[in-house]
Amino acid sequence: MPSVLFSPIKLGGVELENRIVVAPMCQYSAVDGCATDWHFAHLGMLANSAAGLVVVEATHVERHGRITHGCMGLYSDECEAALKRIVDFCRRTGHAKLGIQLAHAGRKASAQRPWEGGGPLKPGQEPWETIAPSGLPFGPDWHTPRAMAADDFARVRTAFAAAAQRAVRIGFDAIELHMAHGYLAHSFMSPLSNQRTDQYGGSAESRMRFPREIAEAVRQVVPRTIALGARITGSDWLDGGLTAVDAVFCAKTLKAAGFDYVDISSGGISSATRTPTAPGYNVDIAEQVRATGIVTRTVGLIVTAQQAEAIVSDGKADMVALARAILDDPHWGWHAARTLGADIKRPNQYLRSAPALWPGAAMAG
Ligand SMILES: Cc1cc2nc3c(=O)[nH]c(=O)nc-3n(C[C@H](O)[C@H](O)[C@H](O)COP(=O)(O)O)c2cc1C
Repeated sequence: MPSVLFSPIKLGGVELENRIVVAPMCQYSAVDGCATDWHFAHLGMLANSAAGLVVVEATHVERHGRITHGCMGLYSDECEAALKRIVDFCRRTGHAKLGIQLAHAGRKASAQRPWEGGGPLKPGQEPWETIAPSGLPFGPDWHTPRAMAADDFARVRTAFAAAAQRAVRIGFDAIELHMAHGYLAHSFMSPLSNQRTDQYGGSAESRMRFPREIAEAVRQVVPRTIALGARITGSDWLDGGLTAVDAVFCAKTLKAAGFDYVDISSGGISSATRTPTAPGYNVDIAEQVRATGIVTRTVGLIVTAQQAEAIVSDGKADMVALARAILDDPHWGWHAARTLGADIKRPNQYLRSAPALWPGAAMAG
């Protein structure tokens, strides 16, 4: 039977060659938000990974919305030009469609790079003021954010739309909003971080109001020829936090706002969260979200070709995203194709690789 993983899929007006997605992964290697030669090598390689879609890391819509000093941004002409150079190169040499994740880190901003400790920036490390729905820190010793006021709402909404316009100009095939992992949009949705008493807090509808406003502002500036999606939370994995029921509600809201797809991730709302470590830990939640009729991707400890194939062929999700497994093996897609007997495109320079090494294997390309 032909592989479902390696069959094409449509996201709005965009067709992907297969259902493997390289998940967005921060590289902490930007300079004032601008991509560098590290991104050139990293994304250039992934554009030839045989994934149908490569999603560029969380790229922040304002300078103070970055997680770390090394995070990517799309808030200046310099950021836009630096990223365009890389996207143009990926297009010339690679086969994957290219997406970008637009984000605002909220109360998890002003942090150290993981290899510098990953905690909040300390005095002397140029920390900055963070914003959030309520003045509640992410965890002990983290910065206490300022509860957002009317001008913050307007500025952040506008910043998302402006960054989306830059992404359109750069020529991305897909734009996805980061509404998970405890960053700004997620922190509005979760009752653990949103204790507002105005129209942006309280019921699930009210907590969804600001993420929905952002989604609508972005939808207005992104043409239908570009796929528009969001990464959302399947579970906070904490008592009193978001659950699969909330993920279904969020997906329905985004579908009504004209979004083409969602990606089910989870965790990250507080330093107390313990995300599960079981293979495919978000898959069952994705299945519930997919029942709403929106194209659904999932992520989280998807590691083997057979596991990925089973998720899509059993109808639990339409696509899978991989992060750590792809860092470990950037040619994961090539090897999955060999295992599943599928055909993939390789760059001309590498055409002589696998067939000579694996003469008897079920593979093509
Ligand atoms: C180095 C690294 C950077 C990451 N950066 C992002 C990011 O920019 N945006 C995001 O939504 N998730 C990010 N994640 C989370 C991954 O996209 C993914 O959801 C998570 O690692 C679980 O998938 P996995 O088990 O395949 O690694 C990152 C993960 C890693 C390992």
